[in-house]
Order: sequence, then structure tokens, then C-alpha cells
Amino acid sequence: MEGIHGDYPNDMDQIHKIIEKSENFVFFTGAGISRESGIPTFRDKDGLWKKYDPAKLASHSAFISNPKLVWDFFYSRQRLVCQADCNNAHTAIGKFENTRPERSHVITQNIDRLHQRGGSQNVIELHGNIFGMVCIACGKSEQYDYFNFFDNFDEEKIPICPVCNNILKPDVVLFEEQLPQEAWSQAVRLSSVCDVMFVIGTSLNVSPANTLPYHAVKNHAVLVEVNPNVTEMTALMDFSIRARASKILSKILNVD
Ligand code: APR
Repeated sequence: MEGIHGDYPNDMDQIHKIIEKSENFVFFTGAGISRESGIPTFRDKDGLWKKYDPAKLASHSAFISNPKLVWDFFYSRQRLVCQADCNNAHTAIGKFENTRPERSHVITQNIDRLHQRGGSQNVIELHGNIFGMVCIACGKSEQYDYFNFFDNFDEEKIPICPVCNNILKPDVVLFEEQLPQEAWSQAVRLSSVCDVMFVIGTSLNVSPANTLPYHAVKNHAVLVEVNPNVTEMTALMDFSIRARASKILSKILNVD
């Protein structure tokens, strides 16, 4: 049985007791939580950045110099997300939020909107989302979703702004770009007041997102990591569960 490094039943007991006596919860998630939905991660052995160069396909300067190449890359990722579905990890968090609607929040680095499909309402998208569109010239933005994106856009063409005829960009944070300010300040605020932070499916390689656990530690929050592999910050965690998220999250959160 995959489990908590250390004493599984005892740790699970401890986590349940901590959840019972805690008020505010943050789920800080990364690509690993969507892997069992068929969405590749970035840095695992079969990760996207093992096959593709992020500087050529996911940076601001790449978008400016070769928008067609970047769009072909994002169209393929949008197609994959449209064909995917949320998994037990996403739904477990959605159910947990339902029991504590004001006090449970998701802060995600993911751009796939699978948390929302798993029933989560309180979702902060640190890196934007793959079905949002923004004009790099006039700033016009429009939100689509997995069920209507390809009714509005043709994969053979670069999307054009209906207002100023410039090129539209996926409303995601590319390398070299800043995080959306409102989302970031909300994420820091929630991390600074949470009692428990679940750190799920992230290698914690990318900043500033990977500083959020430190804001939680400053508030003496309990950190519970869920990841089949050791990460950059496993030593910082109070519990580090060596497991795949969809296999264990409903047990940790006591939701069925
Ligand atoms: N359940 C839980 N964790 C998993 C699973 C799983 N089934 N499968 C893999 N993981 C873990 C891996 O061990 C790894 O630690 O998920 C993590 C994925 O790490 P990354 O690929 O680095 O993804 P992430 O941390 O989300 O990347 C952060 O980097 O490329 C940018 O903008 C992109 O948001 C992304 C950011």
C-alpha cells in the first residue's frame, strides 16, 4: 500500500485529528494532481519539459517571435484538456470544500481548470488558465471553457482580437511574465492565515509560487505533502505522503 513515509496508520490518525481541530485550509497544487487525468507534468521523466524547450514554446519572447509555433503547442494542450476529466483527487477537494465553503481554498499552478470540474468554487489560478484569451495589444480578454473553446477557435489559425486585430494570447503566465497581481496577493493572504496547507503534486521548482509554503509556516500551519516523489521542500513538511494524489486524498480528507 502506498503510504506516508513513516508510520502510515498513526500519521493518518494524526492528520484527521489536525483537520478536526483546524479552521482554515489551503490546497496548493501542481501538475501532479492532474497526471492521473492524462495531463502530463513538466519535470517528471515523461514530463513536457523533457521533450520540449519551454524557452521556445512557453516564454513571452517566444510568443512574440513565433506566435504560430506557440499556438500550435497550446492548441495541442487545450485539445488534451478538453478530452480529459477530473480525477478522485480533484473531486475529494471539491467535496471537502463543500463541508467548509468559506474556509477551504485551492491555490493552483495548473491551467487546466480540472479543480473547478471537480466541484471546487474557491480556486485561485496563479498561472491563469488555458481557456482564457487576452489581446497582447489592447488587453481585451475573454473566458472560454473546455466545452466551447474549439467552437470559437480554429487550430489552423492564430486567434485574432475582434477589437484591434492584434494576436490573442492564451491567458496563462508564460515564462518571463508576471503573475496576475490580484491572484498573487490573495494567495499570499490565504497562505498566511491557513492552519493546514496541503501541498499536492508540485515539485516546488517554480517561483514565486514555491514561496507560499513559507507563508504558511510563518503562521505555524501544518504542512501535508502528497507526492510519489521527494521534493525540494519535503524536509519542511510535517507529513510527506509518498502516494499518487487520486489514490489517497479522499482517505486523508475523510470524504467518500
Ligand atoms: N500524484 C501526486 N503528485 C504527482 C503525481 C501524482 N499522481 N505524479 C507526479 N507527481 C509529482 C511529481 O513527483 C512532481 O514532484 O508532481 C510533481 C510535478 O512537478 P512539475 O512537473 O515540476 O510541475 P509543477 O510543480 O506543477 O510545475 C510548476 O512550472 O513549468 C511551469 O508553469 C508551469 O505551473 C507549472 C510550474
